Amino acid sequence: MKRVDDFRLTFGKKEIVPIVIGGMGVDISTVELALEAARLGGIGHISDAMVNEVSDRRYDTRFGKDKLKLYRHNVDNSDKTMVRFDLGALAEATRRHVEAAMLAKRGDGLIFVNCMEKLTMNAPRETLQVRMAAALDAGIDGITLSAGLHLGSFGMLAGHPRFRDAKLGIIVSSVRALQLFLRKNAKLDRLPDYVVVEGPLAGGHLGFGMDWGNYDLATITAEVLNYLAAEQLAIPVIAAGGIFTGGDAVSYLQSGSAAVQVATRFTVAKECGLPAKVKQEYFKASEEDIVVNTISPTGYPMRMLRSSPAIGAGIRPNCEAYGYLLDGSGGCSYITAYNEQVALHPKAKVVSVRDKTCLCTHMRNFNLWTCGQATYRLKDTSRKLEDGRYQLLSAEHIFKDYQFSVGQEIALPD
Ligand SMILES: Cc1cc2nc3c(=O)[nH]c(=O)nc-3n(C[C@H](O)[C@H](O)[C@H](O)COP(=O)(O)O)c2cc1C
Repeated sequence: MKRVDDFRLTFGKKEIVPIVIGGMGVDISTVELALEAARLGGIGHISDAMVNEVSDRRYDTRFGKDKLKLYRHNVDNSDKTMVRFDLGALAEATRRHVEAAMLAKRGDGLIFVNCMEKLTMNAPRETLQVRMAAALDAGIDGITLSAGLHLGSFGMLAGHPRFRDAKLGIIVSSVRALQLFLRKNAKLDRLPDYVVVEGPLAGGHLGFGMDWGNYDLATITAEVLNYLAAEQLAIPVIAAGGIFTGGDAVSYLQSGSAAVQVATRFTVAKECGLPAKVKQEYFKASEEDIVVNTISPTGYPMRMLRSSPAIGAGIRPNCEAYGYLLDGSGGCSYITAYNEQVALHPKAKVVSVRDKTCLCTHMRNFNLWTCGQATYRLKDTSRKLEDGRYQLLSAEHIFKDYQFSVGQEIALPD
């Protein structure tokens, strides 16, 4: 029987272990996690979601405080049009985060940054352009475009000196999204270096509607592979979403994918950014605890643990400090939902907002426990300790389990 180690992802002459750890914002896929993937010869992702906050927490900067100071007078105003990101500060925060990864990188693998288009930051084009350019300036190996169609993103980078040498890829959930992207960028004479096909069982936001259950990764991956073959486009395809064992990965590699992108198994790695207590929630989860809902203001369905403290919380919007989801005209659907509840309960000190969540605040504080559908199986990947907790795993252990295990085998930690 084959194992993942029998395969390699090739970029030109470079051979990579075909395991990609997917981006997990906000700082769930940490620099430390990405470094391990690269050291072991695979690909790791950092994420640039809320990078100013990540920089403040990790590198002792004050981007969030400075922004709040500037706009504090606006906190009671529902119109957030004036709340803008300082593009210089955004570039600086991105540079710090990317450099922390690239200067420490060892081994033959690569480190990419996950860039979500839906992080509209009240100036969608300008901020996305700055984020991507700053990551390239700081030496990132590649950029994975996610959470959006990214029809203009290659165009924004076309003038950058690294546009043709950095690895640039896109996440799609349908062959149609890929076709749109390729058509839109045909004039640039620059194909993506890889395409991640993310199916409906992934964590984070889903590229499907609430009918996600009608789709499956194997079918969409086959459609993408067929389309690329018909067009004679030799772009590596990376399958993602619900690939839980080495055997699952091998089945995708044998049917034409060049690599797999995985994330959920690494949420219980020591190097993962979730707090230790939250990792135990992931271990303990049963299948019924995992839900897909529409509380994310991005408009995309999102999968999460039912017990996430973010669900139903009614905090005042924090756009003056954060504001990563402001749509460019000062709006966010959480602000609308929050104001409705305040109007309905004018005397209440605390309201509960059930249909939307303040995603920035709750992701920053690790109170929205987004997860893949296979999270309920994490308990089978570790040992239960005497005190009832589960043993955390090293990223190396999980990575090597994907790389060397056979069939549906899962190696338990020592
Ligand atoms: C906790 C968590 C957070 C995630 N956050 C993001 C994100 O910020 N951006 C993104 O493009 N994908 C995100 N994803 C999706 C992963 O990068 C990956 O493609 C997918 O989860 C792979 O499926 P698996 O988790 O079943 O292995 C996230 C996944 C998880 C589990």
